[in-house]
Amino acid sequence: MTELIVSLDVDEKESAEKLVEMLGESVDYYKIGAVLLMASGMDIVKSLEKQGKKIFFDLKFFDIPNTVEHAVYHACRMRPFFLTVHVSGGPAMLKAAIAGRNKSGVQTRIIGVTILTSFNQQDIELLGFKRNIESYIERLATLAFESGIDGIVCSARDLEFLRKKFPENFLMVCPGIRPGISLDDQKRVASVRQAARAGADYIVVGRPILESKNPLAIVQQIKEEIKENETQQKNS
Ligand code: C5P
Repeated sequence: MTELIVSLDVDEKESAEKLVEMLGESVDYYKIGAVLLMASGMDIVKSLEKQGKKIFFDLKFFDIPNTVEHAVYHACRMRPFFLTVHVSGGPAMLKAAIAGRNKSGVQTRIIGVTILTSFNQQDIELLGFKRNIESYIERLATLAFESGIDGIVCSARDLEFLRKKFPENFLMVCPGIRPGISLDDQKRVASVRQAARAGADYIVVGRPILESKNPLAIVQQIKEEIKENETQQKNS
């Protein structure tokens, strides 16, 4: 079953709280990242936890292993459900992230970002990588799996080949979901149906919900599309 994570990329704690209140029981998972944390500090994490929401802490750590181990330890003490690191930090950094999580005693799932969904082939070539983007993503996903982290962030477009390669319990979290036609700065996008059909465990949706005049209606539509896909798969 694909679960929806709403990305709280808003500039004020009050706007985040208002949205969470409006979405009520219909959303269990919220992603908190650099935008909201820099704008409002840690209070929002405590406030969501009190309401029984599950937190996806999108901090995308990428540093030397020692720094990441300590940062992950402190982040996990806030009891997030997920925490992100960049897989390109390498196996030593990924193992340090696991060590930091284990030291905290909290069961936070460590999720590794492969290639940002705002990157396409041209963008990785600009960084000097000559490989084709899919093979680079596959390499990073393998590194993540072999290092023992709990899953990856990838585009839903990558799921077709990634799902075949890794066991079902290796979590696949997909941002870059566009229920409508606007892409914003995302390049490797997929619709809700495509992501659910391809086996995303979680989809992350921000602006299509945040910028809508009726965020609850968009959430309901997304959940309906996920449910329809499930029914189709059961019947096929
Ligand atoms: O507004 P939108 O739906 O594009 O938001 C996607 C969210 O997912 C943003 O918070 C972005 O930082 C995050 N993200 C992403 N691509 C990744 C990892 C995280 O878009 N590979």
